[in-house]
Amino acid sequence: MIDQTKLPHVFQITSSKDHAETAHAIRNMVLRGAGAIGVAGAYGMAQAAMEAENLSMNEFESYVEAAADRLMRTRPTAVNLFHAVDRCLNATASGSVAERVHKAVAEADTIAEEDISASRSIGEYGRELIGDGFCVLTHCNAGALAFIDFGTALSPIRFAHRQGKNMFVFVDETRPRCQGARLTAWELQQEGIPHAVIVDNAAGHFMRRGEVDMVIVGADRVAANGDVANKIGTYEKAVIARENGIPFYVAAPRMTFDLNCGSGDEIEIEERDASEVLGMWGIDEEGSPSRVLIAAKDTPARNPAFDVTPAKYVTGFITEIGILRPPYSESIPQAFGGVGIA
Ligand code: MRU
Repeated sequence: MIDQTKLPHVFQITSSKDHAETAHAIRNMVLRGAGAIGVAGAYGMAQAAMEAENLSMNEFESYVEAAADRLMRTRPTAVNLFHAVDRCLNATASGSVAERVHKAVAEADTIAEEDISASRSIGEYGRELIGDGFCVLTHCNAGALAFIDFGTALSPIRFAHRQGKNMFVFVDETRPRCQGARLTAWELQQEGIPHAVIVDNAAGHFMRRGEVDMVIVGADRVAANGDVANKIGTYEKAVIARENGIPFYVAAPRMTFDLNCGSGDEIEIEERDASEVLGMWGIDEEGSPSRVLIAAKDTPARNPAFDVTPAKYVTGFITEIGILRPPYSESIPQAFGGVGIA
């Protein structure tokens, strides 16, 4: 996996030797983004099955169940993780131990392939929404780093640009971990798409001045009624977009929809360590990684990693099977009925 904690300053591939290290990497955001977390969870299950290949059947079952539990306790909000781990666990439910190991690995590969294909389709459907000369605002990183191979929110942008459309992207910095400034800006730079990083507080300013044509964000979990959990700050962007008559789209594949969740109120919101709010990471002038404190070390802080945007603010969902429109309590179950954790 690409170590996302080091980007954009250092590009480093890192690996985990077992499922426990994979769980650690997910929790510490060595990789992050709903799709990447899901695929990592799936390969974590494949690792666990391989670690247990010489155990008896009973020991194998207990080992993979404990691994599933460990992987699912890493980050609570993105549902892709739960769907992926669950699918791999189900894949190990029958056959000899050797067959179960094989099935767990195959299921992880299938999940990764499905994400790649969904990501491409989201780009192909979504690019039609982007007009020539558009300025698109996005929040956090919903690019290839977050969802293989093209991203979710960034996939329509990527495909529209490849079609030859002129466009510009406003990239919200996305405090506290700055996924926008560090990761989205880096991806757009790789692709040669014109962009500018703005502080999170500047989005309203540009929207009110008529400088934003549409907003596209990703999602960590979409409830059956269309409420969306995504990176903290997304809700504000949706409300300001509505106030200014700007379309607000959410790009997400079926793996991000949770039909067992009736509304956004049921989605667990991860609260991370206060140190992320009190400090900033980067490199110093010599290029060495460095952390600075913004507030006094013992200042109290709250750090919810996600918020919920009510469905009424969402103009449409860009999915791998097309654009879903309101009323979502009808269009979502119609599109993805049967998806969810059994
Ligand atoms: O805390 P993160 O960086 O994992 O949060 C990521 C996001 O909120 C993305 O917008 C979301 O996962 C959609 S990208 C597939």
